Amino acid sequence: MADHPQRRPARRDRRPSPHAIRASPGFPHVTPFVETRQDVPRTIIEMDFPEHTTYRRMITKDFLHRRVEQLRPRIENIIDDLLDTMLATEERPVDLVRALALPVPSIVICELLGVPYQDHALFQTRSNVLFSREATAEQAMTCFQELAGYLGELVGKKAAEPGDDLTSRLVTEQLMTGAITPEALVAMLVLLLTAGHETTANMISLSALTLLQHPEQLAKLRADPDKVPTAVEELLRYHTVAASGARRVAVADIEIGGQLVRAGEGVILAYDAANRDGSVFDDPDAFDIDRSDVDQHLAFGYGPHQCIDQQLARAELQIVTRKLFERVPTLRLAGDLAELPFRRDAAVYGLQELPVTW
Ligand code: HEM
Repeated sequence: MADHPQRRPARRDRRPSPHAIRASPGFPHVTPFVETRQDVPRTIIEMDFPEHTTYRRMITKDFLHRRVEQLRPRIENIIDDLLDTMLATEERPVDLVRALALPVPSIVICELLGVPYQDHALFQTRSNVLFSREATAEQAMTCFQELAGYLGELVGKKAAEPGDDLTSRLVTEQLMTGAITPEALVAMLVLLLTAGHETTANMISLSALTLLQHPEQLAKLRADPDKVPTAVEELLRYHTVAASGARRVAVADIEIGGQLVRAGEGVILAYDAANRDGSVFDDPDAFDIDRSDVDQHLAFGYGPHQCIDQQLARAELQIVTRKLFERVPTLRLAGDLAELPFRRDAAVYGLQELPVTW
């Protein structure tokens, strides 16, 4: 991705710091949970160099492009099984969020982390509250503690009987060598489990809806499935589900796009606004799977904190987009667009439900 020096700090610039936020009273937080987690160990999303690099390296290996490519056949199976179940049901309409969008990334992240998928209700409900802007700080902290308790038990089980999963590797290679504390490990697992399904789930349902609302674009995709990867990038740009942006505090004076940000001032990285920037994208509000400038999008963030798992999210979105419209060619929205429950109350934009029929 080419850089736009006019509107971005340098890729490796670490002066906009997420670490400094906790020490900045009155800083506008994305969710109440962020505001109250003073006593919760930091995860990579809130760390600065060099701590950030040390902790990020503990998990990058599992999210490398090569590793994700090995997972593709398994992701295909998961999606096929879910579509088999959905197509076998007599019930109409079907909620595509429950039938497909939520289970796909949940099963994938569970298998990667070694979390039993049968416990999905436990982590999906808590995660919903952690990402909510409307939950109270107490509700969010209770949910975090419940998730931490659950994952703390899992760490104990993996220590006793390690498997072939990321949690077991973190336990044997990092926890047992003293490189990470039990509390920091559990906080990292909470981040991976929650971020690992919320964002992608919302992208899957919004992608299905967007293609159904743009039949001419869907027809182009059907005629040429090689367009799927670019269409997925356009869907990522168009929706930017991490819509409330990322927060930083300047730890030194910094100039961004000709604007001086003084040390101590807050910075909101508005990825959604950047993805509709008319000086970068032609006709930015149009949804166009053929746009040539789509590789400029910032849906996975930018710089040192760029999404660690973007290759996996891309693989899931590409496979699900292709298979859904191949296997359910007459798929259509059941109900009124205006009535759909969009998640405007959450840090990650999406849909609570998507009724479909075929
Ligand atoms: C970071 C978006 C899927 C884990 C980020 C950031 C964005 C983002 C915008 C940067 C936040 C910042 O600048 O502070 C997305 C989108 C996804 C997705 C749109 C799906 C479509 C995932 C998945 C995981 C994941 C599946 C799996 C565990 C993370 C982690 C970070 C992160 C751990 C923090 C990286 C760091 O601070 O170094 N993501 N994400 N994300 N994402 Fe994702």
